[in-house]
Amino acid sequence: MVIGAAARVAIGGCRKLVSSHTSLLLVSSQCRQMSMDAQSVSEKLRSSGLLRTQGLIGGKWLDSYDNKTIKVNNPATGEIIADVACMGTKETNDAIASSYEAFTSWSRLTAGERSKVLRRWYDLLIAHKEELGQLITLEQGKPLKEAIGEVAYGASFIEYYAEEAKRVYGDIIPPNLSDRRLLVLKQPVGVVGAITPWNFPLAMITRKVGPALASGCTVVVKPSELTPLTALAAAELALQAGVPPGALNVVMGNAPEIGDALLTSPQVRKITFTGSTAVGKKLMAAAAPTVKKVSLELGGNAPSIVFDDADLDVAVKGTLAAKFRNSGQTCVCANRVLVQDGIYDKFAEAFSEAVQKLEVGDGFRDGTTQGPLINDAAVQKVETFVQDAVSKGAKIIIGGKRHSLGMTFYEPTVIRDVSDNMIMSKEEIFGPVAPLIRFKTEEDAIRIANDTIAGLAAYIFTNSVQRSWRVFEALEYGLVGVNEGLISTEVAPFGGVKQSGLGREGSKYGMDEYLEIKYVCLGDMNRH
Ligand code: SIN
Repeated sequence: MVIGAAARVAIGGCRKLVSSHTSLLLVSSQCRQMSMDAQSVSEKLRSSGLLRTQGLIGGKWLDSYDNKTIKVNNPATGEIIADVACMGTKETNDAIASSYEAFTSWSRLTAGERSKVLRRWYDLLIAHKEELGQLITLEQGKPLKEAIGEVAYGASFIEYYAEEAKRVYGDIIPPNLSDRRLLVLKQPVGVVGAITPWNFPLAMITRKVGPALASGCTVVVKPSELTPLTALAAAELALQAGVPPGALNVVMGNAPEIGDALLTSPQVRKITFTGSTAVGKKLMAAAAPTVKKVSLELGGNAPSIVFDDADLDVAVKGTLAAKFRNSGQTCVCANRVLVQDGIYDKFAEAFSEAVQKLEVGDGFRDGTTQGPLINDAAVQKVETFVQDAVSKGAKIIIGGKRHSLGMTFYEPTVIRDVSDNMIMSKEEIFGPVAPLIRFKTEEDAIRIANDTIAGLAAYIFTNSVQRSWRVFEALEYGLVGVNEGLISTEVAPFGGVKQSGLGREGSKYGMDEYLEIKYVCLGDMNRH
């Protein structure tokens, strides 16, 4: 099964190990000399023990069995940051075996014991907030402040599930016959395969591993090959916190092989994935022969709907946050900005002014609010969407091309007069481009917003309480922000409807994804 073809699960080629895994890399012909900032950050990370380049299997840091490696680069500069183990089928099978073995003891700990380990992991993540943030900026490109924000967000899932571990309650059901007692137990699913994306190198891992470990499951994580370093650093801190050998494994490298091993193994009882809808569908199909539980957090096509009665400032700020977080590279980013006739021109002007003030640059530079896109394929996709829109009559207000900084930087862009025959109104842009679409009535807005196979996040801006209720009830989406553009939090359920996915992450609902329900009927209770 090929799981690596889609945009958000990119696979690099493995190569033979040329130098020690822990050594920082020398610069290849296509890559620039490492900048001083990045170099000093890397050196600090190395001396703190957080720059890990081997996989974690059964509590041991290991090279790939054939010594192949994969390069991790800094998207802002093209510099190679590190050479990490490029693992495949054999390593994944060993990781699954160690997870399977660890499950027996980890699941038998009391919830309180597991909770303490998770709490220690949370404390360590927070204690190393700066270094983890630097790693995220280095391999993913987002501005350092945003990256440190991701560490706090990511760690919050570990803290939340450390607490939630103690609240996995069962039930006692009034019996149907007087000599019976009926119980419901909730028990961990077993070994979990977690496949995670590059856009949140930490938070998409902790949002899965937190509830998995809390409920008593053990996990094999496959982070994106583009951003494995944060995952490995987080795993190092998990070991320091007392997560026992095998309870958490990390393998990365050959995505199709790792995916196949996780999907075909009868010992893996659950697959959890964040990534593209195309890959999610393949995973779902491949999980069918062994009937695994599946959670999928897939692509979105989020509308941000600005009504005539909205507060202009609130709508501009909210849409800006919803669109340009992580340079537009989140599944909940506003993908279509629907603006009502009466406020369209005013909004277009105020919004473009705000977008103009965004600062594009290297994430380590003070003041940067927009980092690079993850790779050139991402920029090419944005370019194709913009060309398509312009060729069909849309007009660029600002931006619309690669940034003069080069590499994978793209100008924050606002395009007006976008209509439903343009690719960007149908597909996820995953970049810093905001298309403005005009609508007349509330009914039109709801129809346009729901006219998509996706259904993850939506945003509405209005000062009418009645309208907000009518619209959020009618929207076919898993998350809705009302007068708010940043709505993700560990305490609320995150997930989509329609082809945006299955299941929920975060909150008390996220725990159920890792639990099986067992019904027990105690018979013959009246016998003395
Ligand atoms: C995602 O883009 O997949 C996650 C975004 C979030 O957690 O807010």
